Amino acid sequence: MKTLHELFLHELQDMYDAEQQLTKALPEVEKETTDPMIKQRVRQHLTETEQHVRNLEACSQALGEKAKTQKCAGIAGILQEKQSAMKEKPSTEVLQVINLTGSTKIEHYEICAYTGLISLAAMMGHTECERLLKQNLQDENNMAEFLEQNTRQTIEKLGAMTGDANMAARGQTMAQSQTPQRTPTR
Ligand SMILES: [Fe+2]
Ligand SMILES: [Fe+2]
Repeated sequence: MKTLHELFLHELQDMYDAEQQLTKALPEVEKETTDPMIKQRVRQHLTETEQHVRNLEACSQALGEKAKTQKCAGIAGILQEKQSAMKEKPSTEVLQVINLTGSTKIEHYEICAYTGLISLAAMMGHTECERLLKQNLQDENNMAEFLEQNTRQTIEKLGAMTGDANMAARGQTMAQSQTPQRTPTR
């Protein structure tokens, strides 16, 4: 790999694989989620993820290339972390938190990957690719924000439900403190 164009194609292929891995992983998360509002949002992000796959295909097409995949070890690794936690047989309550924090890691991976791709597209004047990649990034930013808002609430609620007195007490203190601000990604 000698040129930024080759790097751009490599990274596009990586995300094309990542998004396809996620179209397979999200239905499982949806099935395991007990909160109806979070469940609905996961379902919506599955639809968005299917569109991300199509946007990446359109991006390759705009470059006159065939859409190819390159194994995305980053997303595979995060999904693998969940499988390893599943071996410890989490309760339904704990599984809710595993899915929320795991999904947040995934969204941040996607945000970083798309931010880099958008910079490359802009520098090389691939306007159509830049537009398509920005659409994907917008969805990932919105999903990351939703997940972060709901992770703390879920942990507090479940701390009380699971009878973990320390956790519930801390949850009350946490509720009074400020939610940490997310570093702006754009
Ligand atoms: Fe995505
Ligand atoms: Fe995503």
